[in-house]
Amino acid sequence: MKPKGTYPINHKFLLLGIFLAFLVIFILRSSFSSSNEVSSSVSQNSSLKASSEAKASDCSPTCSKIPNPLAQALIHYTTSTITPQQTVKEISVTARVLKKKSPCNFLVFGLGHDSLMWSSLNYGGRTIFLEEDEAWIEQIKKRFPMLESYHVSYDSKVNQADNLMEAGKVPECMVVSDPRYSMCQLALKGLPDEVYDRQWDLIMVDAPTGYYEEAPGRMTAIYTAGMMARNRKEGETDVFVHDVNRSVEDKFSKEFLCEGYMKKQENRLRHFIIPSHTGESSMPFCPV
Ligand SMILES: *[C@@H]1O[C@H](CO)[C@@H](O)[C@H](O)[C@H]1NC(C)=O
Ligand SMILES: *[C@@H]1O[C@H](CO)[C@@H](O)[C@H](O)[C@H]1NC(C)=O
Repeated sequence: MKPKGTYPINHKFLLLGIFLAFLVIFILRSSFSSSNEVSSSVSQNSSLKASSEAKASDCSPTCSKIPNPLAQALIHYTTSTITPQQTVKEISVTARVLKKKSPCNFLVFGLGHDSLMWSSLNYGGRTIFLEEDEAWIEQIKKRFPMLESYHVSYDSKVNQADNLMEAGKVPECMVVSDPRYSMCQLALKGLPDEVYDRQWDLIMVDAPTGYYEEAPGRMTAIYTAGMMARNRKEGETDVFVHDVNRSVEDKFSKEFLCEGYMKKQENRLRHFIIPSHTGESSMPFCPV
């Protein structure tokens, strides 16, 4: 997720376009709901005139003002020369889900140039970023103090992926439980309690690095995301995995998030919808 070069300028404008579209939707939605409140409060009075007068007088100038964090995000992306690693089409997959579900709980493995966008698209919700590089966290925190991020250590490397794939096929790894207490070698421990305790609506796996043999791989992040989704009290979790053109991301997402739960692949991004397995002891790990 870190800078590895810039995309052509037209990508940047497309990205900005999507961002602006969301902003407009957000503003329309908030002014729509405020007019609803007003009309219900005068519902005894059928006079349209009264309702529109009340709207004008009840509505302070803040009604249609862009919330400050969104204004900051807009300025940042307009003036930044660095665009996020995901393409417009890839981002759109997650953005469509956020459009439906936000404000919601959004967990992101990876902190980077797209983080401000994710937290803005989930405005009013809770967006938490997990990152392995402490120096990078400090750097981003200085620029975007409003982002909530935590440091996480991965003890497995890309070159251990084959062994971990075998280790992940034991019965202990198919048991749906809180990853903190799991007996499975692939379950990530040591994350802040907040991460285990919250019911995540969306989880994005776009870290750790994973592009050379000695780098920490995404094996445990992918497994843990799937387990958090299954262990949710009820409902579904949208799980996204980026860089599925790489072997680890491809194999681990198919194995532990299940091809049967996969809804879509857009270029290097896969989207899975995983239902809660709690209270459903007969539910297989992957749908048959
Ligand atoms: C409805 O609004 C009109 C115009 O403001 C007012 O004259 C009328 O008394 C109101 N009627 C009720 C039932 O509140
Ligand atoms: C995956 O795609 C990225 C971006 O197109 C590319 O840089 C990388 O080399 C690809 N990796 C593999 C293993 O194909």
